[in-house]
Amino acid sequence: MSQAKPSTLGTAVITGASSGIGKVYADRLAARGYDLLLVARRRDRLQAIADDLQARFSVKVGVLVADLAQPSGLSETMQKLSSDPAITLLVNNAGTSSVVPVSQVSLDTITNLVALNVTALTALTRAVLPHFLERNSGTIVNIGSVVGFSGYPWVPIYGATKAYVLNFTQGLKQQLAETAIRLQFVAPAATVSEIWDTMGVPLSSLGAGVVMTTEDCVDAALTGLDNGEFITAPSVHDNSLVQEFEKTSSALLAATQNDQPAPRYGIRK
Ligand SMILES: NC(=O)c1ccc[n+]([C@@H]2O[C@H](COP(=O)([O-])OP(=O)(O)OC[C@H]3O[C@@H](n4cnc5c(N)ncnc54)[C@H](OP(=O)(O)O)[C@@H]3O)[C@@H](O)[C@H]2O)c1
Repeated sequence: MSQAKPSTLGTAVITGASSGIGKVYADRLAARGYDLLLVARRRDRLQAIADDLQARFSVKVGVLVADLAQPSGLSETMQKLSSDPAITLLVNNAGTSSVVPVSQVSLDTITNLVALNVTALTALTRAVLPHFLERNSGTIVNIGSVVGFSGYPWVPIYGATKAYVLNFTQGLKQQLAETAIRLQFVAPAATVSEIWDTMGVPLSSLGAGVVMTTEDCVDAALTGLDNGEFITAPSVHDNSLVQEFEKTSSALLAATQNDQPAPRYGIRK
């Protein structure tokens, strides 16, 4: 950490801050005046980003090197987050993907996807909540994906982890409805980042006009947050689709509250 005074905005924790979307969040939140805690596995990358942001924005930037897919790295990070009352914003961004067909995928890959995209995001949310509840303030931004809206053949396991992120964030928002804690689900579509290298899919193989820059994605997501959006899908121009999706899914849930099987099943009592 630098010798700068603590930020009046508090500390923003960004997981997966060593590249891509998380790195841009780090830049934008430092520019807004947040102190930062950057979490990822690659120490050299994190330290270079921290040095740069401290020099440019005179904020305090801490680095936590942790593998969030491993119980030891996750529990160390939980401990750090739950013991720091200065944290006011958590960006659960670290995530990974795989395009290996379900019939061929290894147990390690399945385990890693769920550990990082689901377990770590849930556990870190759990870690910050007690302080947020005590203060009745704080913001949690969960990075999902557009493939969390509907199953997608390329990435059924990854998509399902992102559907979890959406469902978890929706349920938690309702659980915290009486508080001033803010939640946002961000659903990027194809965005320039290293995740495509991880998957072994060249970005050039995607159609023209579908890949957003990382900067545009994060800037749109932060504007969505400022505007009080719950679901932010930067690439969706017709936001009524998002609103209809939210309305239809909660109407479907409400319609399930019936002890009688629907007439179409022909069960007569
Ligand atoms: N890019 C897209 O097209 C796209 C679309 C939809 C959603 N998203 C979501 O956006 C988020 C950010 O991804 P990105 O696109 O920016 O990809 P990225 O450049 O690959 O960034 C992933 C970040 O997560 C970190 N990470 C990976 N495994 C980790 C682990 N086990 N423990 C701790 N940190 C780990 C990586 O850092 P280290 O390697 O240093 O650990 C890196 O900082 C992800 O949740 C992803 O699912 C991306």
